[in-house]
Amino acid sequence: MKAQAITFYDAHPGKVSLRDEVIEGLSRQPRAIPPKFFYDERGSELFDRICDQPEYYQTRTEMAILRRSVHELVEHIGQECVLVELGSGASRKVRLLLETLKPSGYVGVDISREFLLSSTEALARDYPWLEVHAACVDFSHGLEIPHCDDKIHKVAFFPGSSIGNFEPDDVQRLLTDIAAMIGEGGHLLIGVDLKKPVDILNAAYNDSAGVTAGFNLNLLERIRSELDGDLDPRTFEHYAFYNPIAGRIEMHLMSKLHQQVRIEDRSFVFERGEGIHTENSYKYTVREFADLAARAGFRQQQVWMDDDALFSVQLLEYRSNER
Ligand code: AVJ
Repeated sequence: MKAQAITFYDAHPGKVSLRDEVIEGLSRQPRAIPPKFFYDERGSELFDRICDQPEYYQTRTEMAILRRSVHELVEHIGQECVLVELGSGASRKVRLLLETLKPSGYVGVDISREFLLSSTEALARDYPWLEVHAACVDFSHGLEIPHCDDKIHKVAFFPGSSIGNFEPDDVQRLLTDIAAMIGEGGHLLIGVDLKKPVDILNAAYNDSAGVTAGFNLNLLERIRSELDGDLDPRTFEHYAFYNPIAGRIEMHLMSKLHQQVRIEDRSFVFERGEGIHTENSYKYTVREFADLAARAGFRQQQVWMDDDALFSVQLLEYRSNER
């Protein structure tokens, strides 16, 4: 069988400006730069290496859960569906589902155009029976996907606990957008990282090989090399900890000394120990996530976990009258 051609939809997501958001973020108190800027080429490479660190349990645990749950998943979803993957990236995890779920169509949704095209092309090549679509969309600002037949059962797939990067209010908005896309009776299969003993969480974001530290510091390296600036990444240190009150991992970059940092014609004074907040990664109990999802009309149909309850893969069903 020969691979079918991919249909490509481009919503032309607005250019996110590193310069504007960095200057804006450093001008605020507390200082913050959004985590989406981690993922330049080097950052994406470092993230892949984080996923292989012994302390970072998420990726291997989620893959194992998906492998084990796929047959039960088919029983809930049935034989005929279109699978829409959000933040499809390298599309490694979805491969665990395709052979068994046998969807008639796959839509990869990602903000990164090149990455999206190469990974959907690879899927089309490897699964010639599958109709493959690619949609270049920034779904954190609304989710409009074409090529969707209203009658066909839709399953959104959002792995990796990327939902953890969203503030709880934004989770609400995103789930509502997903609901509108999949429609009545549609499903969302989502990876959600769970609350757990603090030492396990702290270790996962402070791996002993220092890969997460390098990933965090690479943000400064990127600012230094892409913007006209005077800034030495070596004068900052990685600081990550679990904040049990907010229920999230926080990552920061802390200045090791009193210094002045320049970006274009702007300068920023850092006291020793003053930092930049670079990421939040929220953790939920199964109950907490059920409540959050219920407010957008989703019901937990099944929750799969590993034996140590580190990570969950949740199948949610959308019913408009359940909101
Ligand atoms: C990609 C957001 C799921 O929060 O665990 C890993 C990113 N940051 N180590 C996470 C990340 C530091 C990751 N997510």
